[in-house]
Amino acid sequence: MGALRGFVAQLRSPLYHRSLHPRNNGGEYEWKDPDSPLDVVHVEFVSRSGEVTRVAGKVGDNVMYLAQRHGISIEGACEASLACCTCHVYVDDKFYDMLPSPSETEEDLLDMAPGLRETSRLSCQILLRRDLESIKLTLPRATRNFYVDGHRPTPH
Ligand code: FES
Repeated sequence: MGALRGFVAQLRSPLYHRSLHPRNNGGEYEWKDPDSPLDVVHVEFVSRSGEVTRVAGKVGDNVMYLAQRHGISIEGACEASLACCTCHVYVDDKFYDMLPSPSETEEDLLDMAPGLRETSRLSCQILLRRDLESIKLTLPRATRNFYVDGHRPTPH
């Protein structure tokens, strides 16, 4: 039983998941400015109250970490390790089909997200590309943190 608990704790560890995630550097990359203006990709975040904030990111940015860099209220409790749904966003129709399909794990997590819609995605699974210029993402009214009680990541 102790071994099982240890295994489960390891699976829930952000460090364990970070090591598995292909583009998870804890947000360091998203704090770097683009090398070239050609790499700039803008993202429009729509807050729960409808306020639009347009931020400049770059090709390859993880949208969740980019949001945190700019003070957008996306919790990201598991720090992009695909183990929560606190980075839930609604993707504008125009862009939804342009994104790679969600993995089975992302779909399972989205099923637990309050306010799930057809265009729901986990923002930590969206990496910016040039053709996503001006992608619009709306924050849901609520998210659920079932990952780690009380854990609040701090942006780097
Ligand atoms: Fe947890 Fe995106 S931050 S799944």
